[in-house]
Amino acid sequence: MKRGQASRLVAALAGIWFATQGSAQDEGAGRAPFVTTPTNVAERMLALAGTGPADLVVDLGSGDGRIVIAAALEHGARGLELEIDPGLVEVSRRNAQAAGVADRTEFRVADMLASRFSEASVVTAYLLPWLLDRLSNAFLYHLRPGTRIVTHAFTMTGWQPDRSETVVVHAPDPKAGAETTIHLWTVPTQVRGDWRAASAAGEWRLRMRQNFQLVDVEGSTGDGARVAAAGRLDGTRIAFTGRLLVAGGDTRMAFQGHVAGDAIEGKVELESASGRRTLPLAFGRASAS
Ligand SMILES: C[S@@+](CC[C@H](N)C(=O)[O-])C[C@H]1O[C@@H](n2cnc3c(N)ncnc32)[C@H](O)[C@@H]1O
Repeated sequence: MKRGQASRLVAALAGIWFATQGSAQDEGAGRAPFVTTPTNVAERMLALAGTGPADLVVDLGSGDGRIVIAAALEHGARGLELEIDPGLVEVSRRNAQAAGVADRTEFRVADMLASRFSEASVVTAYLLPWLLDRLSNAFLYHLRPGTRIVTHAFTMTGWQPDRSETVVVHAPDPKAGAETTIHLWTVPTQVRGDWRAASAAGEWRLRMRQNFQLVDVEGSTGDGARVAAAGRLDGTRIAFTGRLLVAGGDTRMAFQGHVAGDAIEGKVELESASGRRTLPLAFGRASAS
């Protein structure tokens, strides 16, 4: 979605919101307007998340249940709807019955801001940005690393999507335009802090700084080279590339590994004028900072 279209949609949704709910105080109570995601857009959202039979899809503010029902019907997933409007929950239950997926779907009258949904493996949301921002800490710290979050149209402040996709809307609302955008994030594990790994040449000491899924890495290797690298987390997978800085010439490095609690196991590929080599490295957490 282009910037102009996005702001028109925010204005349209906010207009409905303020017309129906009235005040900033209500906004603080966490309500958002009922506008549906077009069916073909909902389908792309589920596909972008790679939804499959092992998933539990939680739609936050689920309206008439269409995303949860499509997850069960088209992807064999289980679905949970959290919706504050009891009338819409009733409609969703009837829709799920009619679609034959009542056994794989659950519909709860609930305020998403006061609910835990940490059992989700896919979270979907078509919510205004301020509401997504209020949820972003719950996404980062209460969802399991690797959980996919897909939004329709809107994003969160600061946390850049891992992927965005433009979708042509099959039956567009004249106020919302013929195209929309969907966004995907994968919840990163937390690696901020100091890490140590033994190697034949001595101990690697790395300090990792983390900004959502992005990491900056600096430190030293056992044989005295300085490490300067940057990369990203994809759930519990970590990858960063950079350089080992030494007086006699730099070495290119690329690390790939897997984070499991206080351990990172992986391998670093080193490439210098004298050739290439691969070194397995098993880091343990030295401290959190
Ligand atoms: C824009 S609609 C999206 C409906 C559906 N997810 C879709 O994409 O078609 C937002 C929905 O969020 C619900 N909602 C708003 N605030 C909520 C809250 N705090 N907790 C749960 N549901 C909420 C509204 O009732 C509305 O049905």
